[in-house]
Amino acid sequence: MHEPSVMRRFAEAGPVHRLASAGSVPTWVVTGYEAARAVLAHPGLRGDTATTAGYRPQPPELASVHPGDADTVTVDAGEHARLRGLVERHLTPQWTDSLLPRLRRVTDGLLDGLPRDREVDLVAAFAVPLPVAALCELLGVPEPDRPYLADWLVRRVPTPPPAAHEDVDAYLAGLVAERRKRPADDLLSRMCEAVHDEDLIAAARLLLVSGARPTTTLLGNGVAALLADRDRWRLLTGDPDAVAGPVTEELLRRVTPYPVGFARRAVAPVEAAGVRIPAGHRVLASLTAANHDPTVCPANHDPTVCPGEHDGPDPGRAPHPHASFGHGRHACLGAGFARAVVRTALGTLAGRFPGLDLAPGTRELHYRRSRVRYLLALPVLLGPEHRP
Ligand code: HEM
Repeated sequence: MHEPSVMRRFAEAGPVHRLASAGSVPTWVVTGYEAARAVLAHPGLRGDTATTAGYRPQPPELASVHPGDADTVTVDAGEHARLRGLVERHLTPQWTDSLLPRLRRVTDGLLDGLPRDREVDLVAAFAVPLPVAALCELLGVPEPDRPYLADWLVRRVPTPPPAAHEDVDAYLAGLVAERRKRPADDLLSRMCEAVHDEDLIAAARLLLVSGARPTTTLLGNGVAALLADRDRWRLLTGDPDAVAGPVTEELLRRVTPYPVGFARRAVAPVEAAGVRIPAGHRVLASLTAANHDPTVCPANHDPTVCPGEHDGPDPGRAPHPHASFGHGRHACLGAGFARAVVRTALGTLAGRFPGLDLAPGTRELHYRRSRVRYLLALPVLLGPEHRP
């Protein structure tokens, strides 16, 4: 299910497939781009509690608990819209743009601390800490507290078994109280219009947990892909401001940090690409397969060339569509912010270190082969810094 080559074979065979799932809930996988978008947005498909439960167990009876204990994927439609709206109305494109100088500052800060003339692991030193720092900047987490949240996100959250982390909730409660007293120009202060502290804590927790890992995957796997293709890297270093945007879009399509959208369950019969999926069945959208659907990304498309790169960078040219942020009412809430973080990171890295390359002697890169195929380490030499 999570192997790109397997999903491409499924996609060639048709847009909707029933998996052999003897003894468990019948499961369907949707591989076509349009069909995947249709099921992701379908009102008859709801978040599947059993499979979306994240780092804290989801209570079976969500309606009976305070909304602060639920996540947006598994709450019902009305509650979802309320919690999502709390974030969405403040995380606007305009406000995200206003954060660009701060994102540049955290990016520069990390790069300033790296050795130029010795091997450095760009995953550990850049792709992991940058998204955490950016999310802390977004929410308004003070600098001295960031190592604590970084340790939680990077070390504790992925460690099974999933468990409630009361200390983090207590920390976020303290931050909410502080922002209610002394508002600043950050998302938490903006969301303080919410009546219940629990809603603010749930929103902050959700953004932190949802935002860190996929951004790390895109940065790590994405820089590795760029270094494997020197022509494209040179194009980026030649005009980072213009090229970083289109390159980010194409890397989103090719890396697909979440190969599969969150699981849904049909609450009524659902039709997808002419196939009827019965109520009660589980539905998975393969975002990897959707991103390689030949109807939106023709087979003769040269995958080594980004849109906008054929005749020199042309950031105005529309990139190939992709489904990497999902679609519909659960589409990624942080898509605009993630794009801003990655664009800034790639543009800054390429602008400051145009000679960046794999460390000498690096033969093979190793990926974690699980639900997400992410790079474990990226040994590089930054090389001399370009100072304009
Ligand atoms: C490259 C980075 C990212 C990728 C590829 C990505 C992708 C996704 C995908 C595929 C979904 C699920 C869509 C579905 O199944 O319908 C999702 C949901 C979500 N993402 Fe992201 N994401 C990224 C970064 C972020 C960031 C930085 C944040 C926070 C600032 C964030 C917050 C969320 C939230 C809150 C949801 C749940 C939305 C809902 O249920 O309404 N994501 N993301």
